[in-house]
Amino acid sequence: MPLLEVKDLTVRFDTGGGTVHAVSGVTYALEPGETLGVVGESGSGKSVHVLSMLGLIPKPPGRIAGGQVIFEGRDLLTMPEGELRDIRGKKIGVIFQDPMTSLNPVLTVETQIAEAITSHGLMSRKAAKARAVELLDLVGIPEPQKRVTQYPHQFSGGMRQRAMIAIGVACEPKLLIADEATTALDVTVQAQILDLMKDLKKKLGMAMIWITHDMGVVAGLADNVQVMYGGRIMERGPSRAVFNDTRSAYTWGLLRSLPDHSEGRVYETHTPGQAKKRPRLQQIAGAPPDMTNPPPGDPFAPRNPFATERCHREVPPLVQARDAAPGHLVAAWYDLPQALLTNPTGAVPAAAGEAA
Ligand SMILES: Nc1ncnc2c1ncn2[C@@H]1O[C@H](COP(=O)(O)OP(=O)(O)OP(=O)(O)O)[C@@H](O)[C@H]1O
Ligand SMILES: [Mg+2]
Repeated sequence: MPLLEVKDLTVRFDTGGGTVHAVSGVTYALEPGETLGVVGESGSGKSVHVLSMLGLIPKPPGRIAGGQVIFEGRDLLTMPEGELRDIRGKKIGVIFQDPMTSLNPVLTVETQIAEAITSHGLMSRKAAKARAVELLDLVGIPEPQKRVTQYPHQFSGGMRQRAMIAIGVACEPKLLIADEATTALDVTVQAQILDLMKDLKKKLGMAMIWITHDMGVVAGLADNVQVMYGGRIMERGPSRAVFNDTRSAYTWGLLRSLPDHSEGRVYETHTPGQAKKRPRLQQIAGAPPDMTNPPPGDPFAPRNPFATERCHREVPPLVQARDAAPGHLVAAWYDLPQALLTNPTGAVPAAAGEAA
């Protein structure tokens, strides 16, 4: 039984400038203990897809236009707000980069962690305060007894992020959702936090949805990767399969680069040694679609040098890729050229912290 089943999730924003097609027909299942990495350019619907399942998009202008999100057998999208609020933070922990939902500057770290626990009626105030110290210790904050009585401004950026993680896992959730949780941190601190996450995942046995722009983070952390574009899933599968046997031109573009092919080149090639010196996420030629007026077919078709006539016309379904690992799915009417599939430079990107 999957822990979470997202079925045909569709989210719209009705704005003065038109209806934004933020998320369209997103469908996937997450197993207990699984770590899913969600990647894609800005505006691809990564945040809205998780915010909407948690009841956190502003309505209006937002609206759930269709779908179901089954968590432990119940649909989160039709659940009364009170019950959803109880699941949020208790069974589904969240860590956002958004300062709105970050730490409160006028409350001690102890108060904030204890509040996260007592608001779900899990423990007495006194027991929750003792638990706050344990949690700071668990997330690797030194001298937790002393630190717990401090305010967020007395913490470094990395320590604040650890404190946010402590709050996110305070109730030992079945699922932890992190949206750009390490993006603001420097590379060394980020690597420490990712190690911590791997460790916590083992200790607590929770599943994770990890949203990031950084392919290196995903390579180091995720069992499965889901690549989003124009509010849709373009490719999904075991991380190794998606990185080494890429089937979507969009994923390929994220991993390599799609330089100007008017010069006769389609994709830049480079050796793995050179690849490490390059930024991990390359710019893809062309601009993301205007989501108030999305293309009728494959949203990536206008930027895809391999697009066929059908790509411009019809949305491709997300299906098992041909001769690929089981569970490796792709939404594409076209085939990437064999030369790209078997490209010997198609290595897994260096996991964050491992890069030279
Ligand atoms: N409150 C809102 N009102 C109108 N449109 C919105 C709102 N929130 C999000 N959108 C739109 O929904 C689409 C998906 O946005 P989303 O925030 O999910 O992107 P993202 O993939 O998380 O991007 P980023 O990497 O920049 O965080 C975008 O077109 C965005 O402009
Ligand atoms: Mg986002």
